Amino acid sequence: MSIRKVRKAVFPVGGLGTRFLPATKAMPKEMLPVVDKPLIQYAVEEARAAGIEEFIFVTGRGKSAIEDHFDQSYELQEQLESKNKQEELAAIAEWLPAAGAVAYTRQMEPLGLGHAVWCARNLVGGEPFAVLLADDLVLSDKPCLKQMTEAYEETGGNVVAVMDVPREHTNRYGILDPGPTSGSLVEVKGLVEKPDPELAPSTLSIIGRYVLQPEVFEYLEKRERGAGNEIQLTDALAAQIGVSPFHGLRFEGERFDCGDKAGFLRANIAFALEREDLREDVQSFVNNYATEG
Ligand code: G1P
Repeated sequence: MSIRKVRKAVFPVGGLGTRFLPATKAMPKEMLPVVDKPLIQYAVEEARAAGIEEFIFVTGRGKSAIEDHFDQSYELQEQLESKNKQEELAAIAEWLPAAGAVAYTRQMEPLGLGHAVWCARNLVGGEPFAVLLADDLVLSDKPCLKQMTEAYEETGGNVVAVMDVPREHTNRYGILDPGPTSGSLVEVKGLVEKPDPELAPSTLSIIGRYVLQPEVFEYLEKRERGAGNEIQLTDALAAQIGVSPFHGLRFEGERFDCGDKAGFLRANIAFALEREDLREDVQSFVNNYATEG
């Protein structure tokens, strides 16, 4: 079996972000910063570190700040240059994808994650691709998507990043019915979107990182509705079981669900503690505030 390289990544960024109102009233939720970097930039940098060459955003109304973020900002650059602010210049430009490496398409109706991914079908074409949900932020030595593409180079087929969650949280995620395990890989026997805790086949949940074969578009094309009356990516993947290899990867690292307020706050603290310029200050604040509180 020849395994084709993953060159393209899809970033569904059309969601409304109602859980973060009022912060997201006029700003995309993907632009919320963890320390000083928007969530979407973490996702794009992670994709690039995994060898991704083309970045496909599925946007929606009110998301133009994301396009502006991944573009030059001449006025700001000129000002910083005239003041010789090299560090700041690097902070706004050195991570920009090359011209022509970014494409945007719009999900015109909010019909679910599966529909958002389907909107990217013509830009993806007939090759394997990654999907990254910016809400899920992973702190790890080796970028999570890199761990996945390495696993994929061994297994082929579809690969999803998985982790155990408390049973009472199974109704927030796609949950695996796990088959045999080999090291950090687990075969996917079944997959169900947001099952009630008492019905969940396990507590192994999908996080927002996928390596997918283009055949998934064939199922999405049918526009079948699933959980929450939405077109679910999970259902399209479940239909691939038995058709091509399908594995869950227990990735190394800590995942923060930044779609959730507490998860977002935890991410800010954890990422700040990773930073030399902030560690001491934040650490002492956390220690003292907790004891005083
Ligand atoms: C989506 C997927 C779900 C997955 C989750 C990861 O759910 O549908 O299967 O577990 O992302 O964050 P959403 O967060 O869009 O409700």
